[in-house]
Amino acid sequence: MRTIDSLGDLSGKTVLVRSDFNVPLKDGVITDDGRIRAALPTIKRLLDAGAAVIVAAHLGRPGGKVNPDYSLAPVATRLSELLDQPVILAEDVTGDSAKAVAAALEPGQVALLENVRFDARETSKVDAERQELAAEYAALADAFVSDGFGVVHRKQASVYDIAELLPSAAGELVFKEIDSLSKATDNPARPYVVILGGSKVSDKLGVIANLLTKADALLIGGGMAFTFLKAEGYEVGKSLLEADQIDTVKGYLATAKENGVDIVLPVDVVVAPEFAADAPATVVPVSAIPADQMGLDIGPESAALFADHILKAKTVAWNGPMGVFEFEAFAGGTKGVAGALEETDAFTVVGGGDSAAAVRILGFDENKFSHISTGGGASLELLEGKTLPGIAVLED
Ligand code: 3PG
Repeated sequence: MRTIDSLGDLSGKTVLVRSDFNVPLKDGVITDDGRIRAALPTIKRLLDAGAAVIVAAHLGRPGGKVNPDYSLAPVATRLSELLDQPVILAEDVTGDSAKAVAAALEPGQVALLENVRFDARETSKVDAERQELAAEYAALADAFVSDGFGVVHRKQASVYDIAELLPSAAGELVFKEIDSLSKATDNPARPYVVILGGSKVSDKLGVIANLLTKADALLIGGGMAFTFLKAEGYEVGKSLLEADQIDTVKGYLATAKENGVDIVLPVDVVVAPEFAADAPATVVPVSAIPADQMGLDIGPESAALFADHILKAKTVAWNGPMGVFEFEAFAGGTKGVAGALEETDAFTVVGGGDSAAAVRILGFDENKFSHISTGGGASLELLEGKTLPGIAVLED
């Protein structure tokens, strides 16, 4: 990948940086600013090099329409606090406001364009539409730095097409992410254990298929575990179940056996009659999930079993929470896995927006993990062994 150094002397130049500021918001307040903090090294490096920096980013999926609920205003405020300098927020993506802000921007100053997904061309499947928007971005700057790792799996105007129009390079975050994640995906130190969670097995099919030839053990928790349990013949009550995936999962279980990959499922779960923070929680073995209850976390025996595998591994990758960790009564499984990752000396990578947020929200020490990815889908696609368009376009 091309480095920022390859862009030459940036003093007096305007650099457009693509960051991923898709942060969780509650009532307009950012609940986890990890992605904003992760963007700082590149922005600071460019400012130190004497550049003016314009950041382009998305927040949520506003569907190509202006929607104040998805404004980057709260991000501009937080970015300004973290950089300890003003951040000028343009009122549009590439319109009159963006043009005026870009024209007035001085070296050492930072501006943020409004949510790029307010413009339908950003995510268009029609190349010419994306290219038209990319040309409008390109007119604002002299060079492009791609640093929104969380979005490099998207072939979108501000990620992919712009990189073909301006001198372009990968930023510090993208480099760090690729370097760390490739340690887990290319030739990992063994045993290589992968923990997968989250609600849907259908989101992780490609990853599971790829890991069945790569990992030594696959620990399955979260909502997706119930489709595996059902495939193994257990009744799962009202738990999340993707009935249309049961046959696929049966196929995975058979392939795993043939390949000598250990698929480890929960042995107990925490159930409740409904999805609510104050729902009464009970621990039951997986063979006794009541018909009128739903599993909302893996149980303590499962957490201990998973921890055992994690502590014996040399490389551990984790993607997706083990339960509804946002509710205290159903956070035990995710805490158990995070605790084991914190404890082990193995190379540990955490990917997936939710598991990375869980580590921080549950109060774990981020420094005890080898790498916490800012990417959800992007880190999953790397685990899947895919080529990411936003990375490929930065290769020489
Ligand atoms: C993410 O949150 O994973 C990234 O910001 C990408 O968002 P998207 O899935 O809406 O493209």
